[in-house]
This record gives sequence, structure tokens and C-alpha cells, in this order.
Amino acid sequence: MDSIVVKGGTPLNGKIQIAGAKNAALALMPATLLSEEPLTLTNAPRLSDIKTMTQLLQSLGVEVTSMQNGKVQVLSSHDMTSTTADYEIVRKMRASNLVLGPLLARHHQAVVSLPGGCAIGARPMDLHVSGLEAMGAQIELKDGYLHAVAKGGLKGARVPLRFASVGATENILMAATLAKGTTVIENAAREPEIVDLARCLRSMGAQIDGEGTSTITIDGVDRLGAATHPVVTDRIELGTYMLAPVFAGGEVECLGGRLDLIEAFVEKLDAAGVDVSETPDGLLVKRRSDRARAVDVTTEVFPGFPTDLQAQMMAMLCTADGTSVLEEKIFENRFMHAPELIRMGANIEVHGGTATVHGVDRLKGARVMATDLRASASLILAGLAAEGETVVSRVYHLDRGYEHIEEKLSAVGAQIERVSE
Ligand code: EPZ
Repeated sequence: MDSIVVKGGTPLNGKIQIAGAKNAALALMPATLLSEEPLTLTNAPRLSDIKTMTQLLQSLGVEVTSMQNGKVQVLSSHDMTSTTADYEIVRKMRASNLVLGPLLARHHQAVVSLPGGCAIGARPMDLHVSGLEAMGAQIELKDGYLHAVAKGGLKGARVPLRFASVGATENILMAATLAKGTTVIENAAREPEIVDLARCLRSMGAQIDGEGTSTITIDGVDRLGAATHPVVTDRIELGTYMLAPVFAGGEVECLGGRLDLIEAFVEKLDAAGVDVSETPDGLLVKRRSDRARAVDVTTEVFPGFPTDLQAQMMAMLCTADGTSVLEEKIFENRFMHAPELIRMGANIEVHGGTATVHGVDRLKGARVMATDLRASASLILAGLAAEGETVVSRVYHLDRGYEHIEEKLSAVGAQIERVSE
């Protein structure tokens, strides 16, 4: 297993290219199951989760070709050989459940393993199931697998979501494109990745209105065609790298960064004493003084503060001036980075879904362990500001969502390297 070693204290200066969004690509790739024609994705990120989704789609008979060092993926589901998403793949990556809606819509059947628990929470699929059942699917749980059939195909329906679930919105949106009649998703998720998926589906011939708002209306069509679609910028990778100069000092330009993707996050950075300015190529970030100010953060569905940037923000607030209160409202167990940060000298009290961070002058390097994707990113960032050396183990978590993080950070001056243990 690899580890990453970071030596703190070097100010950063330069440019970091932000990649295409993992959480957009993981929904766009299954969309190929809706059409016999090829789907070409450009600006695709090169991540282990993308490889896992590729394996899953190939296990269903989809032909996946990567070109130009993985940045372009051509997917063709002309000759399907299976409609079963196997536990061995699904348990590695929850987003595998996004094949359920498309398989039901076009093949009228699917067998998809329940993902099982994950580090940050139980993450059930009740909203996915109830939405697809409202569209006429019969779904039952047997041996840990969802067995779904839609005799005669899916029908348009009104689908009110109890919670604005990203994955449930994506599964229902994809399924509705080929359903007979009109589907209205109420309290739909509004994340930029949903907007990106809707735009791709529209270019394949789907009739969709309202993406990015809480109500999405889809008029089913008989078939979808080919499309070429650029994957939207990864707002979570963007937010992660925007924090790097706040930890280490200096000034970094995040190429491809867009303010509209992370307004709630940038508002908190501004309150914490960080300058973010738009450039022709992206976003320029620099802290206003030697020490950030404490701010309170509550995670919410988009356009609120993203849960996927909570760990990184907490790490930054560990050395801010004052006390910050972070509330995690989306997942029930997403503070696993706190004990690791405490090993670096942070002063954090966790009670249920609330973490109180008392700013300390400086963190100290230590051996720490990555527990989930975004927690591991927060530990790398903390290492940039810590005194001495920080060794982050189990970085396979990182590789799921960050392309060569050590290369991108060392290119702007960080003392960081990957070592194999
Ligand atoms: C997506 O997960 C993202 N993953 C997550 O990013 C992100 O944290 C999450 O949305 C929230 O923004 C991908 O897009 C691949 P949800 P998803 O359904 O779709 C509960 C990362 O680090 N829920 O919006 O699984 C669920 O338990 C990952 O890149 C139900 O109760 O998120 C959770 O508490 C981590 N029933 C909350 O909703 C359901 O049927 C949010 O889940 C579905 C969800």
C-alpha cells in the first residue's frame, strides 16, 4: 500500500489544472446503457473509481475505449450480455448503483447488488427504489441484490423525493428518459453533476426541463442516440486545491475553476479571510493574512455548503483564529478525519453530527491514516501547514477521487512525495 509524505511550511505558488468531475463522470458513463449509439465523454478524469465503473460496464457487455491518456472515453452498449451488477464491484463503489435506472429503462430488468455500508454512513437506496416503483417497476430484495423488472417498460410518474438525494435523482432522471409519458421529479437534487447529466441526456435526444431546480420534468422518448459530451469541472477537487494556499501560504491559480460551482464554499472562504478572484483561466486564491479566521459551517444539499468539502474545511479551521462549529447534516458518520487531525495537535470536540474546532497555533506532523476519500485529502492539506513531516497511509482512498495529487501539489512547490510501503 502506498503512503504520501508531506513536509509542511513551504508557501505554494503556481497553477493547478482542475480535472473533470468524478461525480459527474460516474453518472454519465452509465447513461450509455440508454442508447445503442456510442457515447463519447471528453475531459474525463483518470481515477480508480472511473476504472471501477469501466469494469462494471464491461461486465454488462459495454465496450469502453479510453483515448488520449484516459481523457476521452467512448462507450457503446450495442451488444449487452448481462443486466446484473455484481456485489464484488458494487461493494467497492456505491455509484455502481447508477446502472439500475438505465438498465430498467432500456432492458426492463436489472439485478443490482445493494452497495452495503460505507465508511461515512449506511447510505440506503430506499429513495431510488420508491421512485422507480412509482414508475411501474417491481423491485424486491433477495440475497443482498435488488431484483427489478418493468414489464412493458417504465411509465412516467410524479416522483416526490423525501430528501434531495443526488443518486436517486440521477437514477430516476435516466430511467424517465425512455419511460412512456411524463415524469416529474419533485425536490430533485440541484448539484452541478445533475445539470451536467441532464445536458448530456438532452444531447442524446432526451426531453428534459428544469435541471438545476428542485423540479425536473422529463417527457419519455422511444430511443436515444449518440452524443459527445464534455465532463463538467470537478467542484470538489477545485475546492480542495483552493484550500492548499490557505494552509501553506502563497498564491495558487486553479485552472478551469468556476465560481458558480462553489458559491457557498467561497462565501465561507471570504469570511475566513481568503481572497478568491476570477481570472480568464480560473480562480486565483490567496489568504489575506498569516492566519485564517474561524467560521461556522453547516453542510447542506446544493447550493449549500458541500458535504464533500467539510473534511478539508475542518482541517483548515484547525489553525484558524478562534472557535468554529461544523455541522454535518448529510451523512451520519463523516468526522473520521477528526481523530487523525487530533493526532496532529488539533483541538476538536465531536458530539454526534457537530464538531467544535478550537484553533491552535500550529499542527505537528504525524503518521495518520486515510479513512475515506475526502478525509484523506484533508490530511494531505493539513500536512502542508504542519511542522515537520506527515505520513498519510492508505492513500488508495485518495486515488479514487484525485488524479496524482502529489504531482499537482509538488508542481506548485509543496514538499510531497508518494512512497510504497
Ligand atoms: C453523491 O452520493 C456523491 N457521490 C457523494 O460524493 C456526495 O457526498 C453525495 O452525493 C452528497 O452530495 C457520487 O456522486 C458518486 P445522496 P449519493 O444520495 O448519491 C441518504 C465523494 O466523496 N439517502 O445524495 O450516494 C444517504 O444515506 C462522494 O465524492 C437515503 O437515505 O448521495 C445520505 O445520508 C461521497 N436514501 C444522504 O441521503 C436513499 O435512497 C445523501 O445521499 C439515498 C440517499
